[in-house]
Amino acid sequence: MKVHHVGYAVADIDIALSDFLDLGFSPVGERCLDEHRHIHIQFMRNDDYVIELVAPANERSPVGNLLKKVGNTPYHFCYETPDLVASIDRLKGRGFIVLAEPAEAPAIEIRRVAFLFKTGTGIVELLETS
Ligand code: NI
Repeated sequence: MKVHHVGYAVADIDIALSDFLDLGFSPVGERCLDEHRHIHIQFMRNDDYVIELVAPANERSPVGNLLKKVGNTPYHFCYETPDLVASIDRLKGRGFIVLAEPAEAPAIEIRRVAFLFKTGTGIVELLETS
């Protein structure tokens, strides 16, 4: 599966945006509030590399504990798939567990995403491309 982006957990999205500008990244699209997941999101690109800055919008965000434990850090790779359900089933058969069932992601043109986990890879996001 092709890599779509790397997700970075960041405590402050303004500071992170400024720092990644210094590293050659440019913003892609507008900053977005994902109300379902309680996070602010900003995509950035540097040539073929796309990162997703993910900052907590409140205490219910899925990245709050991670930030408390290790600070700002990359924490997921997102992979593209034309068939989200089939890919989830295949990875479940390979030992992945589903952290978040398919849901629409407003930051990515309302396409559906899902999150899985396996010890050997950590958190994996799947993005439906069709
Ligand atoms: Ni992501």
